[in-house]
Amino acid sequence: ASTAATSVSISGDISSQLHGGYFHPLARSWQAERQLTKSMLIYPLFITDNDDDMILVPSLPGQHQLGIGRVISFLEPLVHKGLRSVILFGVPFKPGTKDALASAADDPEGPVIRAIRLIRRRFPQLYICADVCLCEYTSHGHCGILRDDGSLNNELSVDRISDVAVAYAKAGAHCVAPSDMNDGRIRAIKLKLIDEGISHKTTLMSYSAKFSGCLYGPFRDAAGSAPSFGDRKCYQLPPGGRGLARRAITRDMAEGADIIMVKPAGQYLDIISDAKELGKDLPVAAYQVSGEYAMIHAGAKAGVFGLKEMAFESAEAILRAGATIIVSYFTPEFLDWLDN
Ligand code: PBG
Ligand code: ZN
Repeated sequence: ASTAATSVSISGDISSQLHGGYFHPLARSWQAERQLTKSMLIYPLFITDNDDDMILVPSLPGQHQLGIGRVISFLEPLVHKGLRSVILFGVPFKPGTKDALASAADDPEGPVIRAIRLIRRRFPQLYICADVCLCEYTSHGHCGILRDDGSLNNELSVDRISDVAVAYAKAGAHCVAPSDMNDGRIRAIKLKLIDEGISHKTTLMSYSAKFSGCLYGPFRDAAGSAPSFGDRKCYQLPPGGRGLARRAITRDMAEGADIIMVKPAGQYLDIISDAKELGKDLPVAAYQVSGEYAMIHAGAKAGVFGLKEMAFESAEAILRAGATIIVSYFTPEFLDWLDN
């Protein structure tokens, strides 16, 4: 042995030498179990009931509220770049559309059902998810039907939410995704889908582990769904509730969920990892929510990091934790970035 190569002696520990495995960009990519691809991404869209709307949401940089008349031209370039899936949220602006029973949620002339029909016809290859919740349509902004004391009436809520899910599926949504967090809604939706003879062509994606907290603010601006009183802490999970999240995931799998979702993503990577362990045999999705997206934009704007670098780092962490589907407002950017 030459004297030049003695930093590690022959008798030293060879396992200490790791750099050989990741000095090259390709070798670095091999260190991850999976790489971000376009087909992993679901892009959230906010659909209003004014056909010509195209309104920037100030707290959600670069994202719009879109009228039906704008959706196709908005999606065209994205589909061209490889967009595979969207998730739709309804934003009813018209006065009188909100009431105690969220009657407008499954209005056949409402924005979500019209958008499902239109997008399905115009982009038959695009996989359409419909978020299912009542908060955009209730006068009080909560995710279900309330009792007199202001708490959720679970039975009435589940009955209503499962009807809405079936209406979206019948309109042509490939996937219905209840985000309300009422107990037992997955089972109720699955049974109604079976009853209607459409369970074989409708994916049921459960927002199983959806945590309460400060990260949904920009979304509530975009969807107009902030509760008019109180908060969502009695139905969305407490941030420290890892065991509760595991129980919710296990329950939703038993009730017939086809995909399990964890939300938010970046602060809940341990929960994503739990979901992957509990749900070894089904896909795990993670929702990088509006507050996470806005924080990354704010950090980049303040010069803390580069937007693209941080967007990729956050996605890599989500994939590493175990998700293979990411719902993200960065989807249009990723479609560009993944080409280069
Ligand atoms: C409505 C719903 C919310 C989100 C998805 N569906 C908001 C909430 O629960 O208040 C949050 C998504 C985001 O913040 O990007 N049930
Ligand atoms: Zn809701």
